[in-house]
Amino acid sequence: MCGIVGYTGNEQAAPILLDGLKRLEYRGYDSAGLAVRDGGALAEVVKATGKLQHLADKTDQGRALPGMCGIGHTRWATHGGPSMVNAHPHVSGNCSGSGSGTVESDVVGVHNGIIENFSELKEKLLRHGYVFYSDTDTEVVVKLVDYYYKKYKIGPVDAITRTMVRVRGSYALALMFKDYPNEIFAARKDSPLIIGTAENASFLASDVPAILKYTRSVYYIDNLQVARVSPGSVKFYDLNGDEVTLPLTEITWDAAAAEKSGYEHFMLKEIHEQPAAVRDTLNSIIKDGDIVLTETGLTDEVIRSLSQIDIVACGSAWHVGMAAQYVIEDLAKLPVRVELASEFRYRSAPMPENTLVIVISQSGETADSLAALRVAKERGALTLAVVNVIGSTIAREADHVLYTLAGPEIAVATTKAYSAQLAAMDALAVRMALARGQISREEYGHLIEELGTIPDKIRRILEDKERLQWFSSKIANAHDIFFIGRGLDYAISLEGSLKMKEISYIHSEAYAAGELKHGTISLIERGTLVVGVLTQSGLYEKTVSNMMECKSRGAYLMGVTTNGNFDVEDSVNFAVYVPRTDEHFVSSLAVVPLQLLGYYTSVSRGLDVDKPRNLAKSVTVE
Ligand code: G6P
Repeated sequence: MCGIVGYTGNEQAAPILLDGLKRLEYRGYDSAGLAVRDGGALAEVVKATGKLQHLADKTDQGRALPGMCGIGHTRWATHGGPSMVNAHPHVSGNCSGSGSGTVESDVVGVHNGIIENFSELKEKLLRHGYVFYSDTDTEVVVKLVDYYYKKYKIGPVDAITRTMVRVRGSYALALMFKDYPNEIFAARKDSPLIIGTAENASFLASDVPAILKYTRSVYYIDNLQVARVSPGSVKFYDLNGDEVTLPLTEITWDAAAAEKSGYEHFMLKEIHEQPAAVRDTLNSIIKDGDIVLTETGLTDEVIRSLSQIDIVACGSAWHVGMAAQYVIEDLAKLPVRVELASEFRYRSAPMPENTLVIVISQSGETADSLAALRVAKERGALTLAVVNVIGSTIAREADHVLYTLAGPEIAVATTKAYSAQLAAMDALAVRMALARGQISREEYGHLIEELGTIPDKIRRILEDKERLQWFSSKIANAHDIFFIGRGLDYAISLEGSLKMKEISYIHSEAYAAGELKHGTISLIERGTLVVGVLTQSGLYEKTVSNMMECKSRGAYLMGVTTNGNFDVEDSVNFAVYVPRTDEHFVSSLAVVPLQLLGYYTSVSRGLDVDKPRNLAKSVTVE
C-alpha cells in the first residue's frame, strides 16, 4: 500500500511533503521518510518509525530540511518489517546505518507496490558490487535504475524504462537524480499515482487529498508510463521513451472535504456526511423522477439481454455486493453471484454469455478487484465499475463506470463510500426491475420516491447517536461479539461486524442467523454480546428466535430494527430503531447504528479510530 508524495517548486518542500503525507497516512503508517534537495547534488534523507508525527517532530515540522524539491513516503510494510532501515526513501549509493542523513547518491527513491522478482534482481546487483542495507524490494529498484543509468550513460527516463522492462510486479515510483536537482521522475504500473501542476510548482501523490490544497489540475499517469516532473510542468513518456500527451483533469472535490472540520475523527465526520453522499450519488442517477443509466452504458436493452450478474469486490465493497444481491434478485429476478475479488481471479467459474460483471471499489485501485476486472474482460464479460475515485484504474479499465459521489474518504474504515455504493446499487436494481418488466411504472415511481427519503432518514438516525455512545462504553471490554441476521439483514451484519473488529480490535463474527446453531452457538457464554439485525419483516421472528437461543445460553442481546417493532424489547437488552422505509433499502439505515457502535467502542477503548493497526485504506497489493 504505502503513500508517496513529491514536490518541486519555489517553496520549501518538506512542510508540503509532510502535509501531503498526513493526508495519505491512511495508506500506511508504520514508518515514514523524506528526501529533500537544496539545489545541489546532495539529498538530505530523514526517516522515522511509527506515526508520521515522529517524522514531523524529527524535522521540526519540515523546517530543518531546507530545499525546494523532495519526495516522501508513508509505509505499510510488505518486504521487510517496519524499521528505520526499511523505511523509504532508499538510495542507490552505499550507506551505513538506516540510510538517513546527507547522501550523495545518484538516485534516491520512494515506491508503492511490490516487485515480485526482486530477489533475482538483487542477486544480479550484488554480483555488480551493489551493497544492500535494507530488506526491501524498493532498494533493489532504486539500485537497478542506478545500474542502467551508469552502465549505458543514458538519461533518467531511459534508465527508468529499462528498469520497468526488467521488473515484475506493481509500482508507483518517485525518483530524484543527483544530476537533475529540481526534477522528480516518476513511473507507474498498477499502483496509483497522480501528478498535479500549478504555477511554478508540481506535485505528485498516491491520491488526490494529498495535493488538493495546492492544485486541482491533475494528470493520471497511465500504466507503464514515465513522468518527468519540473516546477510547473510535466512531460510523459511511454516505455519506448517516446513523449506522450496526457489530458489534464480538473478535480471537483472540495479541499475542505479532506479536513476534519471540527470532528474528533475523520470516521465520525464521514459517518455524518452520509446523507450528502447518498443524496449526491442518487441525484446523479435519478433525473426528473427517472433512473438514468445511459452514461453507464446499461440501456434497457442491454439489461434485458443479461443472463447473470457477477459482483466482485473486497472488504466493505463486497458487503455492498452481498446486499445488492438480495435486492437485484428480488426486484429484477436476475441471478446474481457475489465473489470476493481475491477468489474470483483464481477461479475458472463458467461465465454464461451476457454476464455483467460489476466491480465495486471506493478507491478504484484495489489490486485484487483490478485483477478480477481484467479476468472478467478477458472472459468476454461486459464490465461495470462502481467507483468513488474519478480517473482511478478500475474506472478507466472497465467498459462502463457508475461513479459514487461520496467525496474523499480518509478514515480507513469506510462509511460514506459504503453507503453511497449501496444507494447506487439499489438504484441500479430498481432500473433493472423496470427494464425487465418485473415492476410496474407505478411501483418504479414509488421505489424511486422511497430511495429519495433515505438521506433524511440517515440524518434522523444520526441525531440519536448518544444512546449508542453510552451503550458502546458499556461493551467496550467485550471479548467476542456476534452479529446475526437473515437475508439483507445478514449482509448488514457482515458490515457491522467488520466495522467493529477493524477499529476496536474486539473479535467479532457475522453469521446468517440460521447458521449459528451449526457450530458457532457453542461459543456463546455468559455475557457474550449478540447483535441481531431485524429489519426484514418476513424474517423478524425467525431471527428473534435465534437470538433467544443465544440468550438462553447467557448472551446479552442488542437488536437493530425498524420503528414500530417495539415488542423487540421483550427479548433484547438494548434496542435501536431506524425509520421505516421500503425493506429493500432499509440496509442503508440499519448500517448506521452499527457504524456508530464500532466507532464509539473504538473511542471508548482509546484507540486510533482513523488509522487502525495493520490496515490500509487502499490495498494495492495482492
Ligand atoms: C480496504 C479498506 C476497506 C475497503 C476495502 C476495499 O480493506 O480498509 O474499507 O472496503 O479495502 O477497498 P475499495 O477501495 O476497493 O473499495
